[in-house]
This record gives sequence, C-alpha cells and structure tokens, in this order.
Amino acid sequence: MQRWKRTHFCGTLRAEHVGEKVILNGWVHRSRDHGGLIFIDLRDRSGLVQVVFDPSTAPQAHDIAETVRSEYVLAVEGTIRRRPAGLENPKLATGEIEVLVSQVEVLNTCRPLPFQLSEESLTVDESLRLRYRYLDLRRPEMFYRLQLRHKVVSLIRHFLNERGFIEVETPILTKSTPEGARDYLVPSRLYAGHFYALPQSPQQMKQLLMVGGVERYYQIAKCFRDEDTRADRQPEFTQLDLEMSFVEQEDILQLIEELTIFVVESVSDKKVIKPWPRLSYDEAVARYGTDKPDLRFGLELIDLSGVLASTQAQIFRAVLDSGGQVKAIRVPGGAQYSRKDLDEITEFARRFGAKGLATIQWMEEGVRSPVAKFLSAEEMEGIRLATAAHVGDMVAIVADQPKVVANVLSRLRNEFGKRLGLLDPNVLAFCWIVDFPLVEWNQEEQRWDPMHHPFTMPHPEDIPLLDTDPGRVRASCYDVVCNGVEWASGSIRIHRRDIQQKVFELLNYSEEETQARFGHMLEAFEYGAPPHGGIAPGIDRLVMFLTEDENIREVIAFPKTATAQDLLFGAPSPVDEKQLQELYIRVVPPEQDRGS
Ligand code: AMO
Ligand code: AMP
Repeated sequence: MQRWKRTHFCGTLRAEHVGEKVILNGWVHRSRDHGGLIFIDLRDRSGLVQVVFDPSTAPQAHDIAETVRSEYVLAVEGTIRRRPAGLENPKLATGEIEVLVSQVEVLNTCRPLPFQLSEESLTVDESLRLRYRYLDLRRPEMFYRLQLRHKVVSLIRHFLNERGFIEVETPILTKSTPEGARDYLVPSRLYAGHFYALPQSPQQMKQLLMVGGVERYYQIAKCFRDEDTRADRQPEFTQLDLEMSFVEQEDILQLIEELTIFVVESVSDKKVIKPWPRLSYDEAVARYGTDKPDLRFGLELIDLSGVLASTQAQIFRAVLDSGGQVKAIRVPGGAQYSRKDLDEITEFARRFGAKGLATIQWMEEGVRSPVAKFLSAEEMEGIRLATAAHVGDMVAIVADQPKVVANVLSRLRNEFGKRLGLLDPNVLAFCWIVDFPLVEWNQEEQRWDPMHHPFTMPHPEDIPLLDTDPGRVRASCYDVVCNGVEWASGSIRIHRRDIQQKVFELLNYSEEETQARFGHMLEAFEYGAPPHGGIAPGIDRLVMFLTEDENIREVIAFPKTATAQDLLFGAPSPVDEKQLQELYIRVVPPEQDRGS
C-alpha cells in the first residue's frame, strides 16, 4: 500500500476527530517558523488545516519542514489535537484543531511562484494568471467555480434525462453552420483546398436529429465563433443545446423555465423572479429601449411624444416632424445632480449617439432645466404628470429617431440603475422576449437579414406577409434574458421545404448558394421532417450569473484572452513548413509585413 495514502481531506477535520491518527496530502499554503515550532497551513481542494512540526517529538520531520517552501507537495502523518485555548482560528473551518506531525514526506518541490496564491485574483495581473492557469486553479475560489460549473451541468443532465431526453454528440469537424459569426476553418489533408468548419452551434445537426426520429435531444455542446471577444463572449464556449419534436413554443418555454429554476435553486440562494415575465420584442423596446432589459429595476422609458405633440420647442419640434420620438426616464433623487454630474451624464448619452440630453430637475426651490424656457407651462406640467416626477427627481429626455432614443435611454437606464444601487446581485431577473421580427433590414447591404437564423418559423398567420411586408412578419422565436444579458435563444423551426425555400428567397440567397450551403437540409425536410423546435442557453453565462463574475474567463478552466490567445499553450502558433505542405497551404503575410 502507498505509505502516504490519505485518510482524510484537510478541510474536513473537526474537533470530533481529536485523538485520531491521520494521513494528509496537499500543498504548503503558508509556512511559519516560530523558532522551534513550525506551523504549515496544508491545503487540498477541500480547504486548509494547520499542521505542527515539533522538534522535541518528531525531530526528523521538523528538519524536513525547515526546508519546505510555498506550494511544495507534502504527505504528513500525525495526530489531531485541539488547539490551545485562545489560539483557535474562528475564520477557518478547521480552526479548532491542528495536526501534530509525526512523519512527513516531500512528494514534490515548487519553484518560487510567479504570483502569490493567497492574493485576491483582481490584484494579480491577469496575463500571469492565464499563463500559469494551473497555479491559478489551485486557489479555492477557482476550484469553487469549477465545482459549481460541474454541479450545474450535472443537474441539467439529471433533469433532462428524467424527462426522456438523450444526449447525442455531434461532430466538431463539419461544414459551416452559420450563427452570424466567422467560422473557424480546419484544412483537409486529403482534399486539397477543402476545409472543415468548426460548428458555431450544432443547429443543423440537432434539426437533422429530429428528422432522424430522436424527438428529445440535448448536448452540452462546444461552439466556436471567430468574433470579437467581450466580457461575456469567448471564441469557444459551451451551450446547453436542446431540441424537441412535436412541440409548440409554450412547451419549450415551460421546460426551460422549470429547468433553470431547478438548477439555480439547487446550487444557490439567488432569488429568481417567478414566473418569468414575458415581453414581446416591441414591448421590450418600447418600455426599456432594448430586447435585453435588466428587470431588477424599473426606470421605464416614458413616451413624451403625445405631451409634446404641438410643442414649439425647436429641439423637439424638428425631431417629431421628421418621424422621430421624444422619450424620457425619471431618475428618483436626480434633482441633487450637480452641473458637473449632468455634463458627465450628457457626455455618456452622446457616446451612444444622442445629440443632446434635456434634463428637468424638480428642486425644493423650483425647477432647474435648460429646456424649460422653450416649453409652455402646460407642457412642463404634462411632462411632470407623464413621468410621475416629484420634488427631488430628475427627468432625462432624448429626442431623436426611435433607434437612437432606444439605444441612448436603455444605456442611461442601466447607468442610473447602477448609480442608484438598484442592481441587486442576489436577484436573477430572468424574462422571456418573444415575437421577434423574422427579419431586419440591412441598410448597408440593402437586404433582409434573419433576426435569429434562417431556420426560424414565421408565425403561421404572418406567412402571407412574407410576400407583401416581410418586416412585419413575426418569428416563432424566443430569447431568455437575465439581468440585462442575453442568456438563451431558440425558435420553432421551419420543417417544410416550401417555407424554408421562401425564407431563403426573402434573404436573397441565390439558388446555387442555397443548394451549396443548405441543400442537405432542404433535402432532409422532404423525407418526413416532424415539426420541431429548440433552444440553446449559454452554460458559461449561467455560471457567471451564479458567481457574479463580470468576466466569462473566470468561469472557464482554460480561457482565451480578450485577443483570442491561449497564453498557457501559446496558441495560436506557427506550424512546421512540412505540416503546411501536407495541407497544401502557403502563408501569405499581411501587406505591411511583406516588405517592398
Ligand atoms: P445563439 O447564437 O443566440 O443561438 O446562442 C445561444 C446562447 O449561447 C451563448 N453564446 C455565447 N456564450 C459565450 N461566448 C459566445 N461567443 C457566445 N455566443 C453565444 C449565449 C446565447 O444566448 N443555434 C442557436 C440556438 C437555437 O436556436 O436553438 C444559437 O446558437 O448565452
Ligand atoms: P441647445 O438649444 O442645442 O443648446 O439645447 C438645449 C438643451 O436641449 C441642451 O440641454 C441640450 O443638451 C438639449 N438637447 C439638444 N438636442 C437634444 C435632443 N435631440 N434630445 C434631447 N435633448 C436635446
């Protein structure tokens, strides 16, 4: 038998173990030499325990302990004893006891550390953490994240397995499955000039599984998208990908709501608003200026276009006459903002496209507003009534085309939510956004683009509009938003070739393009494709909600940097000339590197 096989985990030892002989394995978290006694905090993934080396009872072990440094790997044998009265550490779960060591073995040494593992993550240079991720992962808060993620995925699997879903793996080497980003391509060695694409999602595969009679599919699926990395976006990430046959939108909404509440409540104390509010796309944009509203707080947008319908104030008149809107939010307590605060807030609004920001502050001593002089008394009173403003409040008004008004006010709304401390971290405000438009007009390219993806089923009653007024066709499509972040997207799919063909035509895909990219899908639909639909929530983002991390990298074991690099492996990296030859690839350096 291994001489140093552990009998207990460090962090599990308690007063009830006093007198027991134990063997522990772990890392030296901290070591203190008190001239005579040496104290080491020994750490394994369960936590820390203090182990004591006493030269008078175990001189050999004490000699070894004198040589150990941070993160040495040790096996110790010893006896649990109660700490002397007054020396307990109430901050430590094991703080009532310590281990008096009889023998120790150094299982491995450790070089001086690039950063201290006891340091707060936020104070350590992140590139160092990523370069030495294996050290970073030793920190208890990182192990907690990995473990939480594991629990979340286990619970999801358990829930879906119970309901007759089966997990099916779909290929990573495949053909482009577009979700609106660039593909990662993999060159083929056997077919010169041909490429596999890594899936942006298993979208087509899961639909083909429905044609294949699977009926209830899920997968914890890796997805790959070559797009700009952001705080909640990685080039590769994980979805819970799910699809069902013979269902309606309502079935999927109920399933996901139940699943999510089950998972969140099993692993956290977070408060989930139940049942999840449902907003149509139009309603969300009207009330919050965005299809990703943070419902932890109000501060809804108020339309002043009616109140100001016959205003003579030029800033509003001009906008209303050119088909624009005037909308506002009321900021409780905003009367206290100083000139300087208002300049800052106006600058913020300008960054998102506002031409200006009109403010009205209701102070004890009267109204303060740069626009009051342009407005009649009735208009001022109309604004006060429409916004329900009281003394102490401020109203911030934006006049512009609807898209700009929505964008600026939704950003301001979030900003004020933050400033007013309304973003309760203990609340997960999930909501459904439904009835998206099927397509949106791409002004630059002068064509219709899918709002979601080209496989989304139009509302049955809107199908005739495909020919006459495509912009008004609603899609059987739904998103889950949580605290202002898109968390999941899904839809009922087109399962009939004629409708799919019509949508491709609307999107202006040529016959050849359609055939080359989606011929296999269209063909499959002709072989008894059942009605089906599904959804895909992001696993990384769910874990972020639970850990309250601002950055997705914190919840991924080996993430890429903001510039899509893996600092630990040094990827991406050049490859051997021989490898390139085998793949029929010649690298053409970018213009500026080519010399003249
Ligand atoms: P969609 O592209 O909206 O839908 O993605 C669904 C969810 O996946 C997560 N997500 C990401 N997470 C981290 N990094 C990224 N780069 C990233 N991109 C997306 C988000 C998002 O809401 N096939 C469809 C789903 C369907 O219709 O069933 C799809 O992929 O949480
Ligand atoms: P001006 O007459 O341009 O000095 O603007 C008077 C006030 O109206 C200033 O506080 C501006 O910030 C504000 N303002 C100007 N344009 C807009 C607009 N499009 N929407 C809201 N407020 C505006």
